[in-house]
Amino acid sequence: MYYGNLLRKYFLLIIGLLMAASFMGSVLAKSGQQVIEKRKNPIRDSEKTTDEVFKNIKVMNGQPASQLVPAMHFFEAALGFNCGNCHVRGSGEHDWDFAKDDKPEKRRTREMMTMMNAINKESFKGEQLVTCFTCHKGSPDPTAIPALMTASSMKEKNNKPDEEEVIKIPNRLGTAEEIISTYQQAIGGKEAFEKITSLKLEGKADMGNGRESSVSVFEKAPNLYFSETKSPQGTMQRVFNGEAGWFKSQQFQRKFEGDDLRDLKLSSDFYAPLNFTKNYSDLKLENVQLLDNDTVYAIEGTFSKYRRFEFFFDTKSGLLLRQIQYSHTLFGDLQIQTDYKDYRNVDGVLFPFELDISDYEHAQKFRYDAITPNAAVDDKIFEEPGK
Ligand code: HEC
Ligand code: HEC
Repeated sequence: MYYGNLLRKYFLLIIGLLMAASFMGSVLAKSGQQVIEKRKNPIRDSEKTTDEVFKNIKVMNGQPASQLVPAMHFFEAALGFNCGNCHVRGSGEHDWDFAKDDKPEKRRTREMMTMMNAINKESFKGEQLVTCFTCHKGSPDPTAIPALMTASSMKEKNNKPDEEEVIKIPNRLGTAEEIISTYQQAIGGKEAFEKITSLKLEGKADMGNGRESSVSVFEKAPNLYFSETKSPQGTMQRVFNGEAGWFKSQQFQRKFEGDDLRDLKLSSDFYAPLNFTKNYSDLKLENVQLLDNDTVYAIEGTFSKYRRFEFFFDTKSGLLLRQIQYSHTLFGDLQIQTDYKDYRNVDGVLFPFELDISDYEHAQKFRYDAITPNAAVDDKIFEEPGK
């Protein structure tokens, strides 16, 4: 049915924007949503409310319609569910009838949403401190009884050094701006970076399930982007021309809109490492903490109403080791984490040759074999595919 085109869409997009491009392979392979994605999406066309767009809304009334599907993904993550645990299929092979209330899990979820909102309102001053995940922890059946200790976890607990003892807090804590500026110097500095105006990146993506894809990416200043992922399952492209962006697979093509478009634009920013203060507001140093064996500065910044970021900079090398993107949904935040590894010098600028990207469903690894600066590229590839 009509709303079928929402299926996994939000997920597909938040993931898709990340540097290297190919979470989509695994996502799309899942069920027949390729077919569904083809149709025009009514949700993104304007800021209508849930009631105006959907048929059977009883709790999420009056919310922006574009926020419904992100909330559904939050439910999936919080309970370890997928759409089919709460919704029933429609008549066609790839169809769903999302408006139907046939499943007890869907009806129960309405009660849970109301309960959760009431707890936060009554006990936490309206702040969203309790979410579905607080109780559910990835399972439909929350446990009320604390778990038993095991011999091995006992050992681990006893041998684990106290973080306070390990962590070496620098004598003088810089401001967020100073830490970012140190990072910009560490990767080579503005001047060296600005001598590079385009990049060609070639490598492989390990989808975490035994499937490997080849990835090639072209980027050009200020924010043109093209990526292509090829696997035995097919070829996918993601394109941004500076204003508009498209996703194309063998089965369908669609245009990015709303938050997804803003995300794509951000990830296409060629000089992003130089543009922190331009891209994020309220940048501030949260704390100094341990990330594996490295002591890092944790810096927080806001990108948009529904997107907040944390950045972790090595106190020694100054380099960015991790980024976490928080996507706010009506019932809690979802995160996407990117670890940057194996920085190497390309024409005087350090680029990470390995990226580990995870979200609530996937953990994937991208490995670049070659990053070529100022490679010749035909600007046509940044335009709408097939035009
Ligand atoms: C934990 C249960 C649960 C899961 C999992 C879930 N949903 Fe829902 N969904 C609901 C509930 C409850 C509503 C009704 C909300 C209300 O009444 O305010 C709903 C409503 C919807 C609607 C609106 C239908 C209409 O026309 O009224 C759509 C579309 C939808 N869900 C899509 C999805 C998709 C796509 C997924 C998987 C990505 C998904 N849902 C996963 C519980 C769930
Ligand atoms: C304060 C804790 C708490 C919060 C918050 C909470 N739940 Fe639950 N939920 C439970 C408990 C406990 C059960 C099991 C008891 C029951 O089934 O009635 C449960 C049961 C459920 C079930 C039925 C599971 C099944 O196997 O049939 C669904 C579906 C569900 N919750 C969805 C949600 C969603 C979605 C949210 C967030 C909007 C949420 N819950 C928030 C505690 C919570």
